[in-house]
Amino acid sequence: MSLVIIIFLLFLIKSGLDVSSCICILFLLLFYLLHFHKIHAVKLNTISGSQFMTNGDSLVSPNGTFKLGFFQPAGNSENIYLGILYNKVPGTTTVWVANRNHPLTAASPLVLKIDYPGVLVLTNNVTLIWSSNTTSTSGNVTAKLHDTGNLVLVDFHDKVMWQSFDYPTDTLLPGMKLGNDYLRGIVWRLTSWKSSQDPALGEMTWGRDTQSYPESKLKQGEVVKFRGGPWKNQRIIGASQFDRNLIMTFSVIITDKEVSFSYNLDRTSILSRVTLNSSGHLESFVRLEDGKNWQLALSLPMDVCDTYNICSDYGICKLDRLQQSCRCLDEKTFVPRNKTSWETGDWSGGCVRRTPLDCKNGSEGFIKYSNVKLPETKSSWFNMNMSLEECEVNCLNNCTCMAYANPDATLQGCVLWFNELIDIRVYSASNEGQDMFVRMASSELDGSLHISKNKEEDIKLPLFSFSTIATATASFSTKNKLGEGGFGLVFKGVLEGGLEIAVKRLSKTSNQGVNEFKNEVICISKLQHRNLVKLIGCCIEEDEKLLIYEYMPNKSLDSFIFDRERCVLLDWRKRFNIIIGIARGLHYLHHDSRLRIIHRDLKAGNILLDANMNPKISDFGLARSFGDNGSQANTQRVVGTYGYMPPEYARDGLFSIKSDVFSFGVLLLEIVSGKKNRGFIHPEHDNNLIGHAWSIYNEGRSMELLDDSLAESCHPPEVLRSIQVGLLCGQQNADDRPNMSSVITMLVGEGVLPKPKQPAFFIGGNLVVANVSSGVNEQARSINGVTFSELDAR
Ligand SMILES: *[C@@H]1O[C@H](CO)[C@@H](O)[C@H](O)[C@H]1NC(C)=O
Ligand SMILES: *[C@@H]1O[C@H](CO)[C@@H](O)[C@H](O)[C@H]1NC(C)=O
Ligand SMILES: *[C@@H]1O[C@H](CO)[C@@H](O)[C@H](O)[C@H]1NC(C)=O
Ligand SMILES: *[C@@H]1O[C@H](CO)[C@@H](O)[C@H](O)[C@H]1NC(C)=O
Ligand SMILES: *[C@@H]1O[C@H](CO)[C@@H](O)[C@H](O)[C@H]1NC(C)=O
Ligand SMILES: *[C@@H]1O[C@H](CO)[C@@H](O)[C@H](O)[C@H]1NC(C)=O
Ligand SMILES: *[C@@H]1O[C@H](CO)[C@@H](O)[C@H](O)[C@H]1NC(C)=O
Ligand SMILES: *[C@@H]1O[C@H](CO)[C@@H](O)[C@H](O)[C@H]1NC(C)=O
Ligand SMILES: *[C@@H]1O[C@H](CO)[C@@H](O)[C@H](O)[C@H]1NC(C)=O
Ligand SMILES: *[C@@H]1O[C@H](CO)[C@@H](O)[C@H](O)[C@H]1NC(C)=O
Ligand SMILES: *[C@@H]1O[C@H](CO)[C@@H](O)[C@H](O)[C@H]1NC(C)=O
Ligand SMILES: *[C@@H]1O[C@H](CO)[C@@H](O)[C@H](O)[C@H]1NC(C)=O
Repeated sequence: MSLVIIIFLLFLIKSGLDVSSCICILFLLLFYLLHFHKIHAVKLNTISGSQFMTNGDSLVSPNGTFKLGFFQPAGNSENIYLGILYNKVPGTTTVWVANRNHPLTAASPLVLKIDYPGVLVLTNNVTLIWSSNTTSTSGNVTAKLHDTGNLVLVDFHDKVMWQSFDYPTDTLLPGMKLGNDYLRGIVWRLTSWKSSQDPALGEMTWGRDTQSYPESKLKQGEVVKFRGGPWKNQRIIGASQFDRNLIMTFSVIITDKEVSFSYNLDRTSILSRVTLNSSGHLESFVRLEDGKNWQLALSLPMDVCDTYNICSDYGICKLDRLQQSCRCLDEKTFVPRNKTSWETGDWSGGCVRRTPLDCKNGSEGFIKYSNVKLPETKSSWFNMNMSLEECEVNCLNNCTCMAYANPDATLQGCVLWFNELIDIRVYSASNEGQDMFVRMASSELDGSLHISKNKEEDIKLPLFSFSTIATATASFSTKNKLGEGGFGLVFKGVLEGGLEIAVKRLSKTSNQGVNEFKNEVICISKLQHRNLVKLIGCCIEEDEKLLIYEYMPNKSLDSFIFDRERCVLLDWRKRFNIIIGIARGLHYLHHDSRLRIIHRDLKAGNILLDANMNPKISDFGLARSFGDNGSQANTQRVVGTYGYMPPEYARDGLFSIKSDVFSFGVLLLEIVSGKKNRGFIHPEHDNNLIGHAWSIYNEGRSMELLDDSLAESCHPPEVLRSIQVGLLCGQQNADDRPNMSSVITMLVGEGVLPKPKQPAFFIGGNLVVANVSSGVNEQARSINGVTFSELDAR
């Protein structure tokens, strides 16, 4: 201060004034300064009632982070503005300005006060400069500045009447929103200053532009300069290069009332702001606790490839050795519209599909592109209640739909694009982009397995990436394990779109080649029937081979029929429907499908139940495709499960459709009795379940086989018929067993059934039950169980 006075003094003396008048002027000046500060520099916490704020005063947030006060922009000493600034940060860093287009001068006293009936007004004692424009019904309004930097007007119920966060200027603070508030008709968007010295409305804006799926655009007037990409919820860990521990969270709200985007930091002690500067850059700054300066964390647009629509339709921009160049989204399936101009660097024509779409064929499908900035959503349609599967179906069924995607991996949801796709960017970092599915003519679909079921209908079997499935199953975590079926472990997963799946991770021991595997998977996927579990995709990566099935919420049949508590959930009607359903599924495998499929491992654990308790056979086709063939059965793994295994297979390794019929017979008796054929124990004899059924059948006491829990719900003629069919299926001689079409006819028909011959007792009777014949107690049961699980190599 003293240095300034001396310099000023010297200056006055030099300009020709005598010393005494100089000192006089100086004293006047000092008096004014001291007086001014003493009287006016008031720090308020609130403004209410008759309180007011004038030049030099400030309204400070509770812990002093922000202040509302009058300021002069650097390099512009003329004009005075009312704004919100950082209180503890040196210099004037403004985050909000009230009177952007109406600067004030120091000539008149400035007053900020609450006017009746509750409006915050800024006047120069003559005219109204700025007002909060609120219409309050109570006169009792208070202005407060929150520690977030939000200036709010509240009534005496603390209800917010007005807030500065609803009227952003050029800066977005944590917690502030971009987008629309439809109820109040507010648009949240940033508008740059005219220049770095002039807070007046500039021509740059940053905000939501479309009424379709929200995304932000940076515009100069009406011209789009840069597009931020569709909004998504996201958590960025290590959000700043200056503090790798900083976590930033993006939040998106999409409802009828509000569509908004905001961000937050996990540590509120770190200051952060995003400012749209007057030359059209979004600059994101952070200031660490011990920081001396604002650090520029990110500036957008980042590079020339961020230029809006630089590569036109279906083009993507890649920075190669710092030189940008456009390419077609996919050089196999797209070509430049005008090759000549494209090669000379005129990309305005964009790219077109090599094979044009002809919706008539109905055989079109989609190719997936990963890590992309999704195309401009201007002429898109969206529904956040739709799963990715439904999304695909909707897109496929509308000829003008060009692509679909789930815009936000944290939610389900669907965006459909109806025009040429523009402003796509491919990122190198895998966490930046999203997956997009672009419609293609059928001849281009080599990215997914694409096969024809018949002339009209087409089956497309998607290839999933291993990382997608790993994400869906939380890296195959044990808590998602559903079971250990034939050929590998089974996990529950949830795809990004919300679709629940069951993933079978085939054991790595199979040394089948990739093409062989693909062919087998295609064969399996061709098998489609109401009573077969649907295969929805597969994944082949290095030595991983995964099969992805629809998820069955009610798990497998064995979890009901062999469980003393849950068995009551399946009354006779449901059980009979399950029996018929299994028979139909098996019949389809044996006779209706173009391939003749022998299941080889039909058992209660392989019957899954959908939400309506309809049975679906799982694991079909696997034995044929991936199992060891008969001659290897003894050395490696036995295909099939003891207890369901027909004698000819266990003995000679012979398998035919009649072996499945035998397994079906056993399964049928298990469903009726609620008891396992394997390990069945009866106090009076050594027979297994099927042998027991046979002996009481011969004594005319078949009804005794019935599960106690079915006593009330059962329909005795159906029960007797079922048991007899079960016994027919279980006959010793394979040729005596009926085929599945006869089985269905017998089950649902009324006619007289043939009398069954002696069933095969092989496993239960000879191998094991004999060993534990006398000791009928819990211990014997468990010994028995162990014996069996050792026998059962899976
Ligand atoms: C404000 O204006 C009123 C009349 O409009 C005047 O009486 C008063 O002195 C003015 N206040 C100041 C501080 O100039
Ligand atoms: C206040 O509201 C009126 C009408 O509601 C509008 O005409 C005027 O432009 C608004 N003023 C400000 C400063 O927003
Ligand atoms: C304002 O609030 C106070 C109490 O908080 C109350 O006594 C007074 O009547 C209120 N005034 C008006 C105009 O509502
Ligand atoms: C201000 O207060 C808020 C909550 O009261 C707190 O979260 C924040 O860290 C404080 N900021 C500073 C700079 O003290
Ligand atoms: C705006 O931001 C860009 C990028 O950070 C910077 O190069 C430019 O100088 C800034 N312009 C102004 C007027 O501050
Ligand atoms: C392709 O572009 C070149 C150069 O821009 C132009 O001369 C030519 O007519 C264009 N061809 C077509 C088919 O539009
Ligand atoms: C989406 O689902 C929610 C809740 O189930 C419902 O309130 C909303 O209306 C649905 N929106 C649409 C577009 O179907
Ligand atoms: C396809 O989508 C467009 C755009 O939403 C719509 O106008 C048109 O009616 C749809 N066509 C069919 C057949 O659904
Ligand atoms: C449908 O597409 C297939 C494969 O591209 C093609 O071979 C066939 O001729 C097309 N059929 C019609 C009717 O266009
Ligand atoms: C079967 O699954 C559906 C859907 O998850 C559920 O509502 C139903 O209660 C389940 N039934 C039984 C018997 O568990
Ligand atoms: C079974 O395996 C043997 C030896 O690996 C092989 O020679 C034979 O062709 C296989 N049979 C079938 C039907 O795959
Ligand atoms: C099933 O067996 C019946 C009776 O033996 C026979 O008439 C019928 O042709 C067989 N069906 C098939 C598909 O083999």
